[in-house]
Amino acid sequence: MRPKITVVGAGNVGATVAQYAVEKELGDVVLVDVIEGVPQGKALDLLQTGPIHGYDSSLTGANGYDDTAGSDIVVITAGLARKPGMTRDDLLFKNAEIVGSVVDQLVTRSPTAILILVTNPLDAMVQLAWKRSGFPPERVIGMAGVLDSARFRTFIARELDVSVENVSAFVLGGHGDTMVPLPRYSTVAGIPITDLLPKDRIDALVKRTAAGGAEIVNLLKTGSAYYAPGAATVEMVEAILKDKKKILPCAAYLSGQYGVTGLYVGVPVKLGRTGVERIIEITLTPEEQAAFQKSADAVRELVEKLKL
Ligand code: NAI
Ligand code: 2OP
Repeated sequence: MRPKITVVGAGNVGATVAQYAVEKELGDVVLVDVIEGVPQGKALDLLQTGPIHGYDSSLTGANGYDDTAGSDIVVITAGLARKPGMTRDDLLFKNAEIVGSVVDQLVTRSPTAILILVTNPLDAMVQLAWKRSGFPPERVIGMAGVLDSARFRTFIARELDVSVENVSAFVLGGHGDTMVPLPRYSTVAGIPITDLLPKDRIDALVKRTAAGGAEIVNLLKTGSAYYAPGAATVEMVEAILKDKKKILPCAAYLSGQYGVTGLYVGVPVKLGRTGVERIIEITLTPEEQAAFQKSADAVRELVEKLKL
């Protein structure tokens, strides 16, 4: 039997997650949305792509949750996306209401699922979903670091005119303006970019990464990015379903690591079949630790507004 992947929210990110997941034949997909016909239509359209792209995964669209029962993994993208001039934090209360009700309906039907949150503001939404679900923290994870790192990797590769495949990078902290790209841990074929680029160029790439979401919102004008967010989410889904033990930056629950307790923030984790199997603690300089703490403080401030 193929794994069952539920994707809630059949908008831009949700539909892209469904598309990439079936193209990789990671499992059968149930797509859920409140808009009648949309999840059904997109699921059918993707199902009919199978013969051309050569996948046998099945897709179902629904406006309710009965078809989601027994999911192995659930991706939550339901909510509002940013419009120009809006911060991720503007979305807080509206999306908290949506994510809370979605989680309630999912957990009774899929009590052993792993939840991946995508909805913004990401770190606050994953904290809310963890509390609301009653799941252990290793089974509730937020997607942001893979996307932010992919943006940083893209900019580094273009700056140095090298393959993106040679570039690895880490972006830690919350998914917001205070995110912490780490040049010392960002490498090209194993060489830290601090040995390859002058400080002013690195600073420019770091700044562009931190504003990477807004750059796309300002171009699209009617919504936010979805191809890279969809791909980043599916990298996490694949790592979990295939038990790859992959080290990826994800929003994970910290209980003392990096000096933070009781909060979801982006850090490197090992992802496997049981979810977050380990939080990887890397050594930070005093400046990096201060930037991480500032980012965690910004997340905590937002979470406190939710009064969970
Ligand atoms: P979208 O507007 O295209 O899709 C959202 C979908 O959610 C819509 O189809 C809507 O009908 C649906 N929805 C709303 N309330 C619902 C409910 N109660 N139950 C089920 N479905 C519901 O937005 P898009 O671009 O797909 O973005 C989705 C979310 O993901 C946004 O909050 C966005 O800010 C966030 N995002 C987060 C990223 C990250 O790195 N964590 C990256 C990109 C987007
Ligand atoms: C992004 O970074 C909007 O959070 C979303 O593209």
